Amino acid sequence: MAKILVNNSGPLSGEVEISGAKNAVLPLLAATLLTEEECIIESVPALADVNVMKKMLSNYGAEVDDSIPKTVKVKAAQIVTVEGDPDLVQEMRASTMAMGPLLARCGRVVMPMPGGCTIGKRPIDLHLKGFKALGATVIEEDDKVILEAGPEGLKGDAIYLDFPSVGATENILMAATLAKGTTIIENAAKEPEIIDLANLLNKMGAKIKSAGTDMIRIEGVERLSGAFHEVIPDRIEAGTFMLAAAITRGQVHVKNGIPGHVRPIIAKLKECGVTVEVTSDGIYVDGRGDLVATDLKTLPYPGFPTDIQSPFMAFLTTVEGKSTVRETVFENRFMHVVELNRMGADITTENREAVIPGGKKLHGAKVRATDLRAGAAMVLAGLVATGTTEVSEIYHIERGYENFVGKFKALGADIMKVDED
Ligand code: EPZ
Repeated sequence: MAKILVNNSGPLSGEVEISGAKNAVLPLLAATLLTEEECIIESVPALADVNVMKKMLSNYGAEVDDSIPKTVKVKAAQIVTVEGDPDLVQEMRASTMAMGPLLARCGRVVMPMPGGCTIGKRPIDLHLKGFKALGATVIEEDDKVILEAGPEGLKGDAIYLDFPSVGATENILMAATLAKGTTIIENAAKEPEIIDLANLLNKMGAKIKSAGTDMIRIEGVERLSGAFHEVIPDRIEAGTFMLAAAITRGQVHVKNGIPGHVRPIIAKLKECGVTVEVTSDGIYVDGRGDLVATDLKTLPYPGFPTDIQSPFMAFLTTVEGKSTVRETVFENRFMHVVELNRMGADITTENREAVIPGGKKLHGAKVRATDLRAGAAMVLAGLVATGTTEVSEIYHIERGYENFVGKFKALGADIMKVDED
């Protein structure tokens, strides 16, 4: 198994260009199943998860053309099966994004139940609640869920989400575009990726209003057509590289990061004394100067993003003073604490709160990437630790960061990817 070796790299400097957002491109690709016409998606990042999604679309019968770099053309002229592939769902839980489109287009879906993962159980009860509200029957078996729309197809209704689930909002939004009548999603997720998906769907002929607020209104239409859409930049990748500047006390320009998508990260970095300036085409971060501890709590957007919790924690271990981190979105997202403590971070946790004593001089160690974002956090810690840090299980990282090692190298990091000896 490959791993990443990181040496103490001193202050990073230079410019990094942010790729298309993983958590936008996956639902966008799933949405192409809603029409028999061709959709063209641009600024697609080269990620393992995108490869799984392309395989999934082909399995359902779509023609997928990715011969042009960063562009994926999908033409789902006919759907040859409504049964999801268990291996693909196991590999990537976002394969469940196909439920909404297939239910709307074909009236039936058989989806293997996605397993939980290291960060939590990750149920899909809110997705299923939404489909039931649209008139579908839902049969849950041990290993799969079977959805069937009524003989009249889906019918719009009001749906209240007990938690503003990103995936549930996206799945219900896609199903509602072809339902008869009006659907209202209350307590909807407000992430930028929801707006990006609604923008594509409206280009395809859907009638969606106020995506990005907690109440989304959808007027069902008869059919959708093909469209062209460019994926928004990845706000979590942008946040990761902003933290690379902060933790190494360097100066990095995060090109085409959208400031409005990373406001909580900008605010917390500024609270720690990091200089953050908006530029004409991105965000400039300067980590020099006296930095201070802070307290942060993850929340649904526009709160502090849970996906930046572990990279931010790595940064806080190096800042003088005690910080606390509270994780409210996932029930088990502190797996990286054990790994950071191998490097001397001395973090303690109780339930969903971590206490970071700060002011630590980290030392290199053999550590694991326990999830995609925790893997990034370990690399950030390795940049400032004395000696060498070996990060294993880096397939997690390659699921969601395009050219991760190359981008750090270009900023002056002493980093390389090696195959396990
Ligand atoms: C999306 O996951 C992202 N993934 C996650 O990014 C991100 O951490 C998460 O949203 C929160 O922002 C993609 O977009 C592909 P949720 P999703 O449904 O949709 C509970 C990364 O590192 N919940 O908003 O699965 C759930 O258990 C990944 O890029 C239910 O209880 O997140 C969790 O505690 C990690 N029932 C909370 O809601 C449901 O039916 C948030 O989940 C659905 C969710």
